[in-house]
Amino acid sequence: MGLREWWDETVVPRIIRFGCATEAIMELRREVVPLAAGRVFELGCGGGLNQAMYDRTQVTSFAGLDPSPKLLEYACAEAEGVAASGTQADTADWKADIRAGFGEAIPFPDASFDTVVCTYTLCSVNDQAGVLAELHRILKPGGTFLYLEHGRAPDANVAKWQRRIEPVWKRLFGNCHLTRPVSTAIAEAGFAVTLKGARYQEDAPRLAGWMEWGTAVKPV
Ligand SMILES: C[S@@+](CC[C@H](N)C(=O)[O-])C[C@H]1O[C@@H](n2cnc3c(N)ncnc32)[C@H](O)[C@@H]1O
Repeated sequence: MGLREWWDETVVPRIIRFGCATEAIMELRREVVPLAAGRVFELGCGGGLNQAMYDRTQVTSFAGLDPSPKLLEYACAEAEGVAASGTQADTADWKADIRAGFGEAIPFPDASFDTVVCTYTLCSVNDQAGVLAELHRILKPGGTFLYLEHGRAPDANVAKWQRRIEPVWKRLFGNCHLTRPVSTAIAEAGFAVTLKGARYQEDAPRLAGWMEWGTAVKPV
């Protein structure tokens, strides 16, 4: 394994798992993830940090997709932990259908989910518009897309530095882009967006700290 592969496949997954699990980020996840209901699909489920936050009284099935083998290992371990927790009396069994794959070609039929969840993943995909089109396709009309993402900052000075740093940043951190719009891109993909919050994360550098989260409905 070359240095580049070792970095991407061994080091980056650990950085992601650690960096995406700060208390401040976990608090934001708790505002978004428990809203999922029915047949749920999570794009970029690697790491598995959202899984314990789903409301098992509301979720009838869970499927997830991610291309990273190491992050999928973490996700599968989380799924086992969630399945082993809780009691049969008050929670449904947690049977997670976790697959390797890319958001640009999601291996599920049209309109097969009630909720789609995406946290800190639209920054890292290759083709953001293509992925949003896929998420729109697999969601049923009237279904909800729950998102929590970081992206292009509204302040010109921060945005300027995001543009300057991005070429190096994305090579170091698993294709993570700093300059992508979030809510506007989701609206452009045909969703009716309700922005729930947008702000800089206190414990992150502003470059990577502009957070947006909300719900987006696929029109009927
Ligand atoms: C910053 S991590 C976030 C992981 C997780 N969503 C979370 O909230 O902790 C970005 C994730 O996007 C995944 N990813 C990268 N390219 C992708 C693609 N084309 N399709 C789906 N997921 C992708 C990575 O493997 C990684 O799991």
